[in-house]
Amino acid sequence: MSQPKVLITKRIYPEAVALIRPHCEVDYVDSDAGLSPEELIQRARGCQAIVSQLTDKLPAAVLAQLDGVRVIANVAVGYDNIDVPAATARGILVTNTPDVLTETTADFAFALLMAAARRVVEGHAFVHSGKWGKWLIDLLVGQDIHHRTLGIFGMGRIGQAVARRGRGFSMNILYSDAAPLSPELEAELGARRVSREDLLRESDYVSLHVPLTPETRHFIGAAELALMKPSAILVNTARGPVVDEPALVEALRNKTIAAAGLDVFEEEPKVHPGLLELDNVTLAPHIASASVATRRRMSEMAVENALAVLLGRRPANLLNPEAFQP
Ligand code: DGY
Repeated sequence: MSQPKVLITKRIYPEAVALIRPHCEVDYVDSDAGLSPEELIQRARGCQAIVSQLTDKLPAAVLAQLDGVRVIANVAVGYDNIDVPAATARGILVTNTPDVLTETTADFAFALLMAAARRVVEGHAFVHSGKWGKWLIDLLVGQDIHHRTLGIFGMGRIGQAVARRGRGFSMNILYSDAAPLSPELEAELGARRVSREDLLRESDYVSLHVPLTPETRHFIGAAELALMKPSAILVNTARGPVVDEPALVEALRNKTIAAAGLDVFEEEPKVHPGLLELDNVTLAPHIASASVATRRRMSEMAVENALAVLLGRRPANLLNPEAFQP
């Protein structure tokens, strides 16, 4: 009997590719270029599984041309690049890579928060510039983090991990989420659920951890930024379109808010030119989950999910269980 065929659309960790090779015929696109939708459709012909990345756009129109594909295993926890309801309608299973990146992503959200608050990148550039003459009482003064208020939008796994870090810095934790935490978890995290408006008004730091959905597109726009304190700092490690980028540029320019730390952008890898001109923003190229161990494990998890389906098992990280037929 011939082996099932899997398409891996872009370079992943080699350990993950080695996991699947004994069981499948593997079409491994061992490059960073990525496939166009047309190339992806063409290369997926005859494949039962696709290991995709967040740069692979898989809307309904593309899914409709993936005849025979039984599973799309995304190497990411976010899956806004895939039309999951359309996949479900076609009986295609979709999986992601949760949990493994929670702590790593929370570490980076906190790194951005701290870098923006304490002007780490400005300090680095200043030392490099050779302009550092002497110690001054107010040289690159920033804002305290300890005992300040951290507001978290989206209190899922990553939001909670960020709250734990805030607790470690004796911060006051507020959160806003459709689903309240249990009283026990609220007590453990020292977190208080408040309205969206109260969170924006009261927080010194606002960290975003909501998934990108039609409802959260431009979740933070001009109106929300106007509610924030002029000293507030916005951190986004969720998805770029959660923030209205032109509105954020205006708010940073006019000092409606003090600063921002951004790992994600509306049209990656393009960055709004206004953001590149400002010194009160710390920018990173979508690397919040980018530790070696985490990215390697994400690669392996995606491959394990794909393999499970090909071996007739239910994958561990199934996003559309209603499409699964045992
Ligand atoms: C994800 O997993 O969704 C991140 O954005 C990339 O790690």
